[in-house]
Amino acid sequence: MVVNNELIIEPKKGLNGTVRVPGDKSISHRAVMLGSLADGVTRIKGFLMGEDCLSTVRCFQEMGVAAEINEDNVLVYGKGLHGLSEPQDVLDVGNSGTTIRLMSGILAGQSFISVVTGDSSIRKRPMGRVTKPLKEMGATILGRQKGELAPLTISGGSLRPISYKTPVASAQIKSSILLAGLFANGWTEVIEPEKSRDHSERMLRYFGAEVEVDGLAVRIKGHPTLTGREIQVPGDISSAAFLLVAGAIVPDSRVVIKDVGLNPTRTGIIDVLKEMGANLKIIENTADTGEPLGDLIVETSSLQGIEFGGQLIPRLVDEIPVIAVAAACAGGITEIRDAAELKVKESNRIEAICQGLQKMGVDIEELPDGLRIKGGKPIRGGVTLDSQHDHRIAMALAVAGLVADKGITIKNAEAINVSFPGFKNLLDTLAS
Ligand code: S3P
Repeated sequence: MVVNNELIIEPKKGLNGTVRVPGDKSISHRAVMLGSLADGVTRIKGFLMGEDCLSTVRCFQEMGVAAEINEDNVLVYGKGLHGLSEPQDVLDVGNSGTTIRLMSGILAGQSFISVVTGDSSIRKRPMGRVTKPLKEMGATILGRQKGELAPLTISGGSLRPISYKTPVASAQIKSSILLAGLFANGWTEVIEPEKSRDHSERMLRYFGAEVEVDGLAVRIKGHPTLTGREIQVPGDISSAAFLLVAGAIVPDSRVVIKDVGLNPTRTGIIDVLKEMGANLKIIENTADTGEPLGDLIVETSSLQGIEFGGQLIPRLVDEIPVIAVAAACAGGITEIRDAAELKVKESNRIEAICQGLQKMGVDIEELPDGLRIKGGKPIRGGVTLDSQHDHRIAMALAVAGLVADKGITIKNAEAINVSFPGFKNLLDTLAS
């Protein structure tokens, strides 16, 4: 439990059991957005009831979409492609970068005016990467620092299709442009330097849009009719990642995680842990709604440091803080390169994980585009660490705390609710 916004983690002797992790964050956001733009009802099962996805639900409710939440199911009563209405107030995305960037693409296609903002982290994160292409498509967007920072004011309407080369491999940029492409006359194209997660492409097709994928290029045809669908959201591999690393580094552990999303654009964590020597098995199940899934089994492992970067980075971009923890427990050196994007996530994750792990006695240093970790030193507890209001930093440090010599305290731990409500309870279940 998080008390006074502090999480206390005691070292554990073993983690054992079979668990499920909450629904995939990326898929949950997209299901609400496409459900809102579809004709008819979209039934989302296994929705992530985390703060980020609930922000998306609230924003679309403010644009006239009826959505009913019942346990982890959401019913979205779609308004059709042109059915959103002008929000009466500023749309607040909270901490959610996916909400602001993807929704901006949709708002660019609306003739009404909207203003979008978020918390102090969101107001520092780069938005020019989406406002630039959306302006090229014909939307009018104003924001602080020439459209670079939120709050953003957006008004658009009928957009021009563009062909756009993104400067970084980012599913948020790609998806924002593809969603704007729904409102453009003709084919809109996005070309990435490396392939980022492809949930938008898969789900747009599933709802009935025409989408072409050609290597690193993705094209969408404007003005489709989207039809409400049933979506079963798989468990989030980015949340499972914390348990995979925990199971690998805590002695006498065997953890089974059921029904985890195994989209190949997201499974970099599995490739890296296996290369580090993790005792990790995958049992694939059948996918019925366009997203592969399966069960993951991890056992205590003897890990070795590795070097990685390049095309692998977009496939594990959110998992790098917890991979740093695995590296701290591995023999030899781990070097992670080409990961400068981590500096503009919910926090500067390169700096935040370094500061946290250094306080625990880990030999870790910042590189301009990554991290270098010399593993194998004992992990020191008895310290108070700061999550820097970043859910993934809080959970990565918590995993390190499981193998420390004493308990640790993590400040600003409420951030965990952004993506993994129930994280601490789940760890306790596995340790009991
Ligand atoms: C996301 C894409 C990633 C990721 C984020 C979710 C998405 O961001 O870090 O947590 O759902 O599209 P970038 O696309 O900016 O790398």
